[in-house]
Amino acid sequence: MDKSRTGTATHPHGSVKAVLFDAYGTLFDVYSVGLLAEQLFPTQGQALGVLWRDKQIEYSRLVTTSSDGAHYQPFWDLTRAGLRYACLRLGLDLTAEAEERLMNQYRHLSAFPENRGVLQALKDKGIVTGILSNGDPAMLEVAVKSAGLDDLLDHVISVDSIRKYKTHPDAYALGEQATGFKAQHIGFVSCNSWDALAATWYGYCTLWVNRYKLPFETLGTSPTHSGKSLRDVLTFLTP
Ligand code: LAC
Repeated sequence: MDKSRTGTATHPHGSVKAVLFDAYGTLFDVYSVGLLAEQLFPTQGQALGVLWRDKQIEYSRLVTTSSDGAHYQPFWDLTRAGLRYACLRLGLDLTAEAEERLMNQYRHLSAFPENRGVLQALKDKGIVTGILSNGDPAMLEVAVKSAGLDDLLDHVISVDSIRKYKTHPDAYALGEQATGFKAQHIGFVSCNSWDALAATWYGYCTLWVNRYKLPFETLGTSPTHSGKSLRDVLTFLTP
């Protein structure tokens, strides 16, 4: 039998001791920059938000897989580079002022409203909580503080310490190292299908939160669980 399709067999319900969340797109709404983008560039806000995000992720893969990481740049810098590319591609005149306003907005992305309740419920059940993110420590610190989540997270893990982005396995290994639990006892939650897929390959008990009604990646592996909102963490990953 294809083991990739038997997630629940390898992760029996109730075996999860820690839950780690992806940050951008999962706890923080990367498309909340769209409103400001639309004000600055009428009719182009949504296209800019999508292309900006795609380019940011593409650059994270490019620097991780090329030249043994010699071209690594922190996620903040890749985010700025992605914005510049997206504007060039869409033919938008990105002034220095507009760039600073959009980057500042990115620093203070909206948090999804259910975050606090879900994290609090996990804490009440004695489950270790954390973030495992491509974001650099400064970005994550501001985002976590602005969302008022700092008291509910035991770990805020940034891949910056190893200078390799997800989906490199060394990035996912940081979750095991920080919590002291093996991957099969860690729930990993992401709204990004590529992240949920690679975390499943790594061995985590995964929950893909499909906020935008998208298809999952078509590479033959399914996440351990799929849900529609972060609240599904409490259905699928905890007793
Ligand atoms: C994160 C981005 C990739 O790791 O969503 O937080």
